[in-house]
Amino acid sequence: MASLRAAGMRPILAASKRIAAPSTLRQTLAVSSSRMVSSYYQGEAQGPVVKTDIPGPKSQEAITKLDTVFDTRSLNMLADYTKSFGNYIVDPDGNTLLDVYAQIASIPVGYNNPALVKAAQSPEMVNSIINRPALGNFPSHDWASVLETGILKVAPKGLNQVFTAMAGSDANETAYKAAFMWRRQKERGGPAVEFTEEEMESAMNNQSPGASQLSILSFKTGFHGRLFGSLSTTRSKPIHKLDIPAFDWPQATFPQLKYPLEEHVEENAKAEADALAEVEHLIKNWHLPPAAVIVEPIQSEGGDNHASPAFFRGLREVTQKHGVLMIVDEVQTGVGATGKFWAHDHWDLPTPPDMVTFSKKAQTAGYYFGNPELRPNKPYRQFNTWMGDPARAILFRAIIEEIERHNLVENTAKVGDYLFGKIEELAKKYPQDFQNLRGKGQGTFIAFDNPKRDQFLAKAKKFGVNIGGSGAHAVRLRPMLIFEKSHADILLEAMEKIVTSW
Ligand SMILES: Cc1ncc(COP(=O)(O)O)c(C=O)c1O
Repeated sequence: MASLRAAGMRPILAASKRIAAPSTLRQTLAVSSSRMVSSYYQGEAQGPVVKTDIPGPKSQEAITKLDTVFDTRSLNMLADYTKSFGNYIVDPDGNTLLDVYAQIASIPVGYNNPALVKAAQSPEMVNSIINRPALGNFPSHDWASVLETGILKVAPKGLNQVFTAMAGSDANETAYKAAFMWRRQKERGGPAVEFTEEEMESAMNNQSPGASQLSILSFKTGFHGRLFGSLSTTRSKPIHKLDIPAFDWPQATFPQLKYPLEEHVEENAKAEADALAEVEHLIKNWHLPPAAVIVEPIQSEGGDNHASPAFFRGLREVTQKHGVLMIVDEVQTGVGATGKFWAHDHWDLPTPPDMVTFSKKAQTAGYYFGNPELRPNKPYRQFNTWMGDPARAILFRAIIEEIERHNLVENTAKVGDYLFGKIEELAKKYPQDFQNLRGKGQGTFIAFDNPKRDQFLAKAKKFGVNIGGSGAHAVRLRPMLIFEKSHADILLEAMEKIVTSW
């Protein structure tokens, strides 16, 4: 209570665990307290409010102004983050939408979450923002403690170290570099073997003979980011890759499962076995041998493509058999959305992945690893100015505390099961509009295909919901971890309205 008061918030006595939106927000939201939708926070809207077309007049004016200085062609909607709260995003015209897209799957515990506001106002946070360290050279005296109480507290099983980064692409890119350095070190005969003069000279001519013979294997329709290395492993849409020089790296088919799963057991098992055989073939035969295989637990940007735990166990087996590292890209699936903290926790792997990359809901980024040999043999081989950001690491720590305080991963598993069951009912009623429903038992990480997907998404706003798509036809649901059954009911009602008003 004392700490809430210190942060300028009024504690709510009746609802013991529920805390209030900051007072400025409470005024702007002007919501009656009699019918609260969120059981976590007082002050969340009771439901969507759509007052104008979206964009409305005020948004349109602001977009026109913005467009003179910033490319607005990818703009989805303009938001007013001073008024958005909890599961709801608010725009300049006062439209209040239930947000199940959540900044491309990146908001874990709601807009203006009071616990995060408190963390943001802490002297520790102020200090890290205004005295940002070049982490590789000048880490703060308490950096180990920030890591241990935050990022490393939720480290995947078997992984106890982290290299921090700035974004998902950066996390993957640095993981690839770690994989290449590890591989070359092995080939050279260990960490103590010195580089030759010839190696150093050819490196300066972009011609490292050993290293340029290596690759990273990724999957078709996968997405791993847009920096040069990560973009070479991204295979979701040509628009991401056009005109950008790329490495000649191999891609394996990701199993294309048929739905409902129960009706296609044999076919799907064959698709997975074929994909694993292709991976093994590429590892053995690609002219640039892969140092690592990177895989998303659920291919997200590429269309919400799932595979079974058995497939991923098979992938672990193949990579281990051939001495190739397995990198699990949890940038989009990590931090609770699948009903486990890490999506790969669903797989029951006999040994952990070699590296797990993260970003988005963590607000910070990086890769976890366990094998000390994945630290390069010399300093400055894996290095940049910021190497992450302590302010964002402190924010992730507050997010983790909030997740634990409210059991939000369990909440997501439960609400996800409820939502999935209800969408199954919708799919029976409107089979054309809810095709290939996927994500059973995967928390709220649910998707389905709709033949008029883009119209579906545009219409969703009219019915008060902000939803995203993935791949060519998928409607992807990416609610926050504070999404409850009551929010699910609002979403379900809106989706039924969308498909009955074509
Ligand atoms: C699985 C996955 N990996 C990597 C990335 C790239 O992350 P960022 O956009 O933060 O660079 C994304 C972004 O959508 C992603 O979904």
